[in-house]
Formats: sequence, C-alpha cells, structure tokens
Amino acid sequence: MKEQLKRLVFKEFGLHSKKPSWKTTNPEIHKMLHPYEGKLDTAKKRLEALNSEKYPLIQAGDFSRLPWEFLPNWVDLGKINEILLKNPKIAKIVRNTSNGGTLLEKYRDEALKWRAIKEYSHEWNTATPEMIKKAVVEPAGGIPAKANELNAEVVAEKIRKKIRQNKELKLLDVGTGGGGTVLPIVEKLNPNERKKIKIILLDVMKEGLKETKRKLLGLGLDKEQIITLNANFLELGLPKMPGKKFDVLEKIRRILRRKKIKRLVGNVDFVVSGAALHHVSDNAPLFSALYRILKPGGEIHFFDWGHYARMKPEMNLSKLEEPVEGITRGLAPLKSHTVLAMNSTWLSLLQYSAKAKEKLVNEMKEKIKRKESFNFLKWLEENRGRIQRELKPIPKNAPPLFIEGHRPLKMYLKNMRKVGFKIIDAYYPLITKKTKPSDVENLLFLIRAKKPK
Ligand SMILES: C[S@@+](CC[C@H](N)C(=O)[O-])C[C@H]1O[C@@H](n2cnc3c(N)ncnc32)[C@H](O)[C@@H]1O
Repeated sequence: MKEQLKRLVFKEFGLHSKKPSWKTTNPEIHKMLHPYEGKLDTAKKRLEALNSEKYPLIQAGDFSRLPWEFLPNWVDLGKINEILLKNPKIAKIVRNTSNGGTLLEKYRDEALKWRAIKEYSHEWNTATPEMIKKAVVEPAGGIPAKANELNAEVVAEKIRKKIRQNKELKLLDVGTGGGGTVLPIVEKLNPNERKKIKIILLDVMKEGLKETKRKLLGLGLDKEQIITLNANFLELGLPKMPGKKFDVLEKIRRILRRKKIKRLVGNVDFVVSGAALHHVSDNAPLFSALYRILKPGGEIHFFDWGHYARMKPEMNLSKLEEPVEGITRGLAPLKSHTVLAMNSTWLSLLQYSAKAKEKLVNEMKEKIKRKESFNFLKWLEENRGRIQRELKPIPKNAPPLFIEGHRPLKMYLKNMRKVGFKIIDAYYPLITKKTKPSDVENLLFLIRAKKPK
C-alpha cells in the first residue's frame, strides 16, 4: 500500500518517466511550481526565451529549487495535498490507511525534493565551463575568484602542515567546474608537495572535469593522482525512490566503486567547494554524505552565497535591519543588505544595464524607509519593457535561472551541526567598512568545519 501510494504521488509530479524535467504530470501542480512558465526544455528554446518579451520572468524556473526551508512561503503545500487527493486511487489509499494523511505529506515532500534534483541536474548537464564563465563568473565581477583565492590560502597551508608530518592526503573538490576552487590550492604547493596529494574531482559537467584534469597535469601532478567523478553530488543525498533500496553510504560506495577507489569513503582529508553547494533544495542529506566521506579529523572548506533574498516572495525589508546570524568573526552584512545585493546581482546576471540596477536599488531602499514590502518577481513584471538590457552576446545553453537554493549562512551551519560537523570558522571575508549595501561582496561567506576525531 505504502509503496503504491508513493509511486502514485511521484507520478503526479512527473517523476516516473524520462520526460523533460520542467514538466510535472499534474497540470495544477505544474502551474504552482512554474507560475512563470516558459518551455525551457531545450537550449534553443532558452535562447529564444532570452530574446522574447516574456524574459526574464520565465527564467525563474521551478519553485521546487528554492531552499527547502523557504518553499512553504512560496508554494501552498496544503493545496498540493488537495490536488493529489483528487486522484481517486490516492484518495482511496489515504482513506484506508491509518496514517494515510501523514504518508501523503511525506511522499509529497520527497517528490518535491526529487523535482529539485531533476531541475538542477538538467541545468548543469547542459552547461559548459565557457557558459558558466560568461553567464555567472564574469557578471559577478571576479568575486568568486577572490573567494577561491582566500580559501586556497588557508587550505594550502593546512595541506602543507600535514605533508610535513609525512602524510599523503586526499582532497575532494565538490562541483569542480573549470577548476576555480582546486587549481589555486595546488598552485600554492611546491613541486614536492604536489606529489603527495591525491585529488578527486566531482562534477556533473564532463567538460569541466577534462579541463581541470588537464590543468592539474600541467601543474606537475601525475595521472594516478587525479580521479575524476562525473557524477551528481545530489545523488549522495537522495531520498528513497519508489521500489529502490536506499542507503547514503551505499550510494557513495557505488559512485566511487565505478572508479575503483573503494577505500575513499571515510578516508578523505579535505573536502573543498566553491559556489556549488547551493544547487540543492535540502542540503542536510548532502552534508551527511560529505561527513561520511571525510576521515575523522578531516575538514570541509567552502564558500557560497549567503542571503535572505528568496526567503519569501513579498518581504518587508525594514524588518530585516539586523546583521546576519552565525558568524565567528569579521563584519556581518545586514539581512536587508543581502537582499539588496542579491537582487541587484541577478539583474547583472540577466544582463540588465547599470541604470536598471540603480533603479532597483533605489526603489528597494525607498521601500525600506517607508517600511513597505518588496516583491522582486512583481518588480520585474511591472518593469518589463521599462528597464533596459545590455544586449551582450547571449551564452549558448542554459542561462541562469534565478530561483536557486541560496540560503542564509545560519541555515548551512544548522544542517552541518546536525550531522556532527564542528564549525571552525564562518565569516563574510569580502565585507569591509566601505562595502555598499548593494555590493555583491555582501553575499559571500566562507565556512570551515571539522569532523571530530
Ligand atoms: C558556479 S560553478 C563553480 C565551479 C568552481 N568551484 C569555481 O569556483 O570556479 C558550480 C559547479 O557545480 C557543479 N554542480 C552543480 N550541481 C551539481 C551536482 N548536483 N552534482 C555535481 N556537480 C554539480 C556545476 O556543474 C558547476 O561546475
């Protein structure tokens, strides 16, 4: 009965077939998850969409991509239950099972998490390092590169220390891309030190893995020292699919066995990652998997975008005039400043002009002063045709979708502590006294944490 209910619920969400990820079988649920639908299932259609007057709202994407904790603020989950119960088979099982209502919600939640996984995988499977550079890295004004550099300084020093104790070590880079995170670490090591390290690169994007491997070989590493895993890191934390046995550790082993490196689980000294771990709606299972991969005493060092901009669609920013929580040192931005910075950064990513950004920021500031609420999607809708895009050449394949699993720093810390990580450091490294509220520097945090011995 349970398995059948799960199967039926997953089917309503379009998770039973190889259909394009944006399509949910049930049209009513589909409408709730895609209120700004554009048929973005092929690269060509995305490209056309970028030039159509509907742009950029259809770039919102599937709402299941939002941080799991924020999703109920955007999508009426109770309404989804009602829609599911319109299916007579589902209704019958729920009626005839003692905890039918609870089970329905449980499977609905798992299905939503799977939709997010499908959505993100779809996006990244069609991406290339070149596209990421053009669509994300360049408009972000070299900020990720600065964070990678700061992270590399600390990680390289830690590696050096271990090597001095004559230890060989393993480093896993999650979401390698074109190598922006791992390469500066290796560059900081001397040729002898470089020989003592084994590097595992993990990404869904094949091209990035190839490119990074080539560059690592160019830095003097041997082939045997580099392992590429063309895999989806979300698979490390998947909830159980109907009819399949599921075990996080088994899943990791399966991925790793493919590359004949069985002993890696529980044997990695450092996990690093840059601007990648936000591509997930529920990050608790992912952190649990990374925790298991690490050796006792092993460490994770990563950076990401930490902000409140997608907390809910309609926000009173004057209520967010307090610093973000959870930092261990340095300066913290105000929560409202993270919203200002994120929304104005997305205008750059969507290729709008500096003037458009100025207009957005001024209007948001005005709303804060008057204690009025602000809604970014509505603002885009109202200003369609009034704000100007800079028509730069549009990158091929998937342009950025702006509904993302970005979440505030404290939500990362909470889920990391839950699985056992001990936080060493959590801070916003790029903020100075001179940083303006709308500067992208306001968004970037670094977290360093340890798996206790
Ligand atoms: C913004 S890029 C950052 C790349 C690199 N760390 C850097 O800082 O230059 C994010 C990377 O994460 C990868 N990624 C996203 N979701 C992933 C997933 N579920 N599994 C594996 N890789 C993923 C993407 O393919 C992309 O290469």
